[in-house]
Amino acid sequence: MELQDYLRLSVQKIDRALDTFLPKASAKPQTLHKAMRYSLFAGGKRLRPALTLAAAELCGGSAQDALPAACAVECIHTYSLIHDDLPCMDDDDLRRGRPTSHKVFGEGIAVLTGDALLTLAFEILAQASPTPRYGAADLVRELAHASGSRWLIAGQVLDLEGEGKPVTKAALKFIHQSKTAALLTCSLRLGAMSANATPSKLKALTDFGSALGLAFQVIDDILDVTQTTEQLGKTAGKDAAVTKATYPALFGLNRAREIASELTREALDALAPFGKKALQMRALTNSLLVREY
Ligand code: IPE
Ligand code: IPE
Ligand code: MG
Ligand code: MG
Ligand code: MG
Repeated sequence: MELQDYLRLSVQKIDRALDTFLPKASAKPQTLHKAMRYSLFAGGKRLRPALTLAAAELCGGSAQDALPAACAVECIHTYSLIHDDLPCMDDDDLRRGRPTSHKVFGEGIAVLTGDALLTLAFEILAQASPTPRYGAADLVRELAHASGSRWLIAGQVLDLEGEGKPVTKAALKFIHQSKTAALLTCSLRLGAMSANATPSKLKALTDFGSALGLAFQVIDDILDVTQTTEQLGKTAGKDAAVTKATYPALFGLNRAREIASELTREALDALAPFGKKALQMRALTNSLLVREY
């Protein structure tokens, strides 16, 4: 199957499952439930949940069994974007091609919408079926750790604190690993755990995720410089405007592109233990390097 068709099928499964896991827009309080759906169904790429399903299949499991984990990571990701866009953080007006949550619903509701998606993620994940190696509590701990104060939130803290200040290369790498690569890696690990993956497969996917996740954020930084707002569905050129610590800012655009290629190669190498079975994962990895949004 072509990668595009494979991803389209994954997104269909994810969207259907998200729709059933989410409270209806008519459920009280309606503003909140509308706002949750507004951001979640705004046309995100669904990369993280697609990675969860792909990892489950790569480890011999089914996409069906990995759906709670896939939906949970997308809820966390969407909450992190709603909060990332707030005036007190990146102050962005556009996300996924639409006005940001706080622009439509106001800041208070946007904060609460993020809170609600964050909480819902764990309610969904707790419903994951246990496997011989991993119970629902293991999955919950995994997601809490990756999205908590040591990883995703740590990255967001350092990203904010790094604005307008000189940041070393090592510090920048740590910011990107925390704010982006940790959740991406977690998405893969949760998929693998839903498939009762062996520790060695889990390790291979962890190495894959660290490299892929770092590449993903380096490319996000590059696209902020090279693409238009229309192409991105979010305001282009924002990083330079607020002197964010980014790969193009620290290394220049050409070197940043080389680094993204090197990290992609590293990610592909980590898939070696899966042999031919990793066909779609390899295709997906290559496609992310040349993505345009
Ligand atoms: C944006 O992530 C935030 C980053 C960590 C770079 P995505 O580029 O995956 O955003 P969506 O989900 O497609 O909107
Ligand atoms: C966002 O990074 C990372 C998280 C939300 C955890 P960015 O601030 O670079 O993402 P965009 O560019 O706004 O999508
Ligand atoms: Mg940010
Ligand atoms: Mg941002
Ligand atoms: Mg960015």
